Amino acid sequence: MNASLSPEHILQTGMAFWGSKALLSAVELGVFTLLAEGPHTAEQLRRRLGLHPRAMPDFLDTLLALGFVQREGSGELAAYSNTAETQFFLDRASPGYIGGVLEMANARLYPFWAGLTEALRTGQPQNEIKHSGEPMFAKLYEDPARLEQFMAAMSGISAGNFTLLADKFDFGPYRTLADIGGATGQLACLVAARHPHLRCTTLDLPQVTAIAERHIERRGLAGCVQARPIDFFSDDFPQADVITMGMILHDWNLEKKLQLMRKAYDALPPGGCLIAVDNLIDDDRRHNAFGLLMSLNMLIEFGDAFDYTGADFDRWAREVGFQRTELIPLVGPGSAAVAYKQA
Ligand SMILES: C[S@@+](CC[C@H](N)C(=O)[O-])C[C@H]1O[C@@H](n2cnc3c(N)ncnc32)[C@H](O)[C@@H]1O
Repeated sequence: MNASLSPEHILQTGMAFWGSKALLSAVELGVFTLLAEGPHTAEQLRRRLGLHPRAMPDFLDTLLALGFVQREGSGELAAYSNTAETQFFLDRASPGYIGGVLEMANARLYPFWAGLTEALRTGQPQNEIKHSGEPMFAKLYEDPARLEQFMAAMSGISAGNFTLLADKFDFGPYRTLADIGGATGQLACLVAARHPHLRCTTLDLPQVTAIAERHIERRGLAGCVQARPIDFFSDDFPQADVITMGMILHDWNLEKKLQLMRKAYDALPPGGCLIAVDNLIDDDRRHNAFGLLMSLNMLIEFGDAFDYTGADFDRWAREVGFQRTELIPLVGPGSAAVAYKQA
C-alpha cells in the first residue's frame, strides 16, 4: 500500500451514520433534557430513560467520545453531564433548543435516505409520498403530529440563520416585511424584535396559521407580527417593502422557483427587495457539501426540487426583473440571497 494514502476519510464518511444515529437516538430519548437537571450516573440514566443494561456504558461513552456529553470519574460512579453546547441547544426546555430538526431527521429523513440509490436511479421522492404521489406538504400536514414535528424542525434548522439575518441586513430603510412560507413565524419575530419599526407578516398554508399565532403570542410580539394564511401559488403576495423566503425556493422545480420570484417582484415597490435564505451552493459547486447534500435531500423529499448557487439566483432574479443581487453569508453553509428592485 502507498504509505501516503489513508483510507480514514473514506471510512469516516462511510460509517458516519453510526455517530449520526447515536446522536439522533439521544435526542429522541431526551438524554440532554435529562442531563440538564444535573449530572447522572449511567445507572441513573438507564433507569430514567428505560434502557436495557446492554446499552450502558457504550451509549453514553460513545456520546462522550463524540463530544456531546462530559464525564467526571470512571466506573459505576462516573457522572455524565451536558457540554455547554448540548445544554443550550439540545435541552428541550432551553430557549436555544434546536433539536426539532434532529427529531424530524430521526423520524423521517433517516429512514427515507435509505432510498437514496433508488432516488438517484428514478428521480423519484422517497418519503411519505413515495407510493401515493400526493403533494408533499398536503400529505405531511394530514397528520397534526407530523405537522407540529415539521414546524419544530424548521425552527431548529433556521433559528441561527434568521438571527444573523436580523443582525446583518440593513432593515433600516424599510417599513414592512412579508415572510412567505414563514412556518411558525420565526423569521418575522426575530426581525421584528431586533427592528421594532418594521411591521411584519408571516404567511403560510392555512393549517399553519394557528401554530404561528401561538408562537408569536408566546414571544410577546402580537402587536408587530401578524400571521395570515396563503397558498403562495394560487394567491397574490401581499405588498411589502421586503419579501423574505426561508428555505422556500429550494423546495420547488425551476418553473415554480421562477413563479415565486416573479410574484415577489410584482408585490414589491420600487427599491424593495426579495431575500431568499437557503444553503446556497458555491458557484463552482465544490465546497458547500451541506448545500449539495441538502439538494439531494430535496430529491428525497420532492423529486424535482433542488438547491442552487448564488449565480443561479442572480440569473433568475435578473430574468424576472430585479436590478441586482448580493449574497450575505449566514451560519456555516447558510446564506441570504438578496435581489433588489430598481428604486
Ligand atoms: C422548508 S419549510 C420553510 C419554513 C421557514 N420559512 C423556514 O425557513 O424555517 C417550507 C414552508 O413552505 C410552506 N408551504 C409549502 N407550500 C406552500 C404553499 N403552497 N403556500 C404557502 N406556504 C407553503 C410550508 O408549510 C412550510 O412552512
